[in-house]
Amino acid sequence: MARILVVHGPNLNLLGTRERQIYGQMTLTEINLMLQTCAREAGQTLEIFQANHEGALVEYIQQHGARSDCLILNPAAYTHTSVALRDAILAVGIPVIEVHLSNVYRREGFRQQSYITDIAIGQVAGFGSQSYQLAFAAACHWLHQHTPPSPPSAKASMP
Ligand code: DQA
Repeated sequence: MARILVVHGPNLNLLGTRERQIYGQMTLTEINLMLQTCAREAGQTLEIFQANHEGALVEYIQQHGARSDCLILNPAAYTHTSVALRDAILAVGIPVIEVHLSNVYRREGFRQQSYITDIAIGQVAGFGSQSYQLAFAAACHWLHQHTPPSPPSAKASMP
């Protein structure tokens, strides 16, 4: 069973009321419940965190990243500004999948720069709340491919 972190950046706590034409109707609580259901069905452990402060996100990644297998991250506005988040991810060495609800490449120019994309396994953007489900499926697939098979038990290997 893998441990997957889901980290949401600033203003994502306002989903459901925030610019619904861009980010959709679902609240963050509903998205998190949906992800927990996916995790239960896939037999994975999920830890979810949201913060509006850059330092809180950095500290969470520092504290939980090294003992986790994969990070699903929507850095929100910090995508476009945060060297600190990028460095925290590199420092703990956790594989990261970048998520955005909106298609950032169809929006303002400043949203097309990311400090995360080039250190990520991949990015999912533009599918609304479904971006998270797709990222979770991608994380499971990636972990399946990159987790070494467990060694045969002592009993099974006895002649
Ligand atoms: C976002 C896109 C960012 O540009 C923006 O600052 C957000 C949300 C998204 O999920 O589409 O807060 O990360």
